[in-house]
Amino acid sequence: MNEASPLPFPFPTVRWRDGVVALIDQTRLPAELAWRECRDVPQLCAAIRELAVRGAPALGVAAAYGLALAWAGARQEGATAPAALARLREARRQLAATRPTAVNLFQALARAADAAEAAVAAGGDVDAVLARLLATADAVLAEDLARGRALGEAGARLLPDPATVLTHCNAGGLATGGYGTALGVVYAAVAAGRRVRVYADETRPLLQGARLTAWELTARGVPVTLLCDGAAGSLLRSGRIDAVITGADRIARNGDTANKIGTYPLAVLAREHGVPFYVAAPASTFDPDCADGAAIPLEERAPDEVRRCGGALIAPARVAVWNPAFDVTPAALITAFITEAGVLGPPYARSLAALAPGSAP
Ligand code: MRU
Repeated sequence: MNEASPLPFPFPTVRWRDGVVALIDQTRLPAELAWRECRDVPQLCAAIRELAVRGAPALGVAAAYGLALAWAGARQEGATAPAALARLREARRQLAATRPTAVNLFQALARAADAAEAAVAAGGDVDAVLARLLATADAVLAEDLARGRALGEAGARLLPDPATVLTHCNAGGLATGGYGTALGVVYAAVAAGRRVRVYADETRPLLQGARLTAWELTARGVPVTLLCDGAAGSLLRSGRIDAVITGADRIARNGDTANKIGTYPLAVLAREHGVPFYVAAPASTFDPDCADGAAIPLEERAPDEVRRCGGALIAPARVAVWNPAFDVTPAALITAFITEAGVLGPPYARSLAALAPGSAP
């Protein structure tokens, strides 16, 4: 990575700071790198809905700290442990209602809530339970950083030198605890001295590719070229791309994968042009409770995200809009999954079965 980079690596995306959840406000990038402080659960829920914090692993980290935030609020008001537990359960419900697709959010909520329930059942007072919740959230964050590093190293070995990679949305440090998944592969390859160039789809409608991927790669000194989503087919046909690598929001037992809208057409195009299509994701993104892609809940977002760009109206104000935030790529189009347990190929029903989503704090 570029020594002159203003970003430490890995850099923090979500942190617990003096009793608040502090997160990089991704709605303000690339104009400015600013922190947003969430002082209660409704503020954190708003930050998640607005995509100030986004990306499946980062949502998991934010959710885990969110339950600590709920507990800390109850504690400050002098609540007993049972009363604080009721507040925590309500906070869990509110956080779970923010965005439906990224399974990391739900796994982290379940893990943190289980830790709190167990601590209360064991007779812990409000301080002990808060300590337990913070330790759990710290563990979710630390595991995500470790998983990003491990899967990055596994994926880097798949790339030729030099390599040109096409990616979609942002599956980098910003989308995780701070390392990245699809971009983690790129960072690991660059750290190993390989020459890697990235092509980044802009990712309509919210432009995570343009605003976030192009920003974070540029800040790290990794060569990046931005393209409109519709240019991906021509790029793949040109023969310039060695591999397509994306992240994931939820992976079903059979390998069907939900990721940012536009991922599925990219997988179809990659297959058509004989380019490998890899999904880079930690175990926390695998959902053993979903048999296949049809069981994955796909978020639909507000029409104005499509009617407007950068706040300006770009379509008739009341035109009908369909705005799915995610699509499902069938397992058959995925060359392999890049995980912290290594590169897992088909048949996925067997290879994915060994992944354990979360470990105890
Ligand atoms: O709507 P977003 O920006 O949260 O969508 C994010 C993605 O689709 C990412 O590719 C995915 O979460 C993987 S992040 C490592």
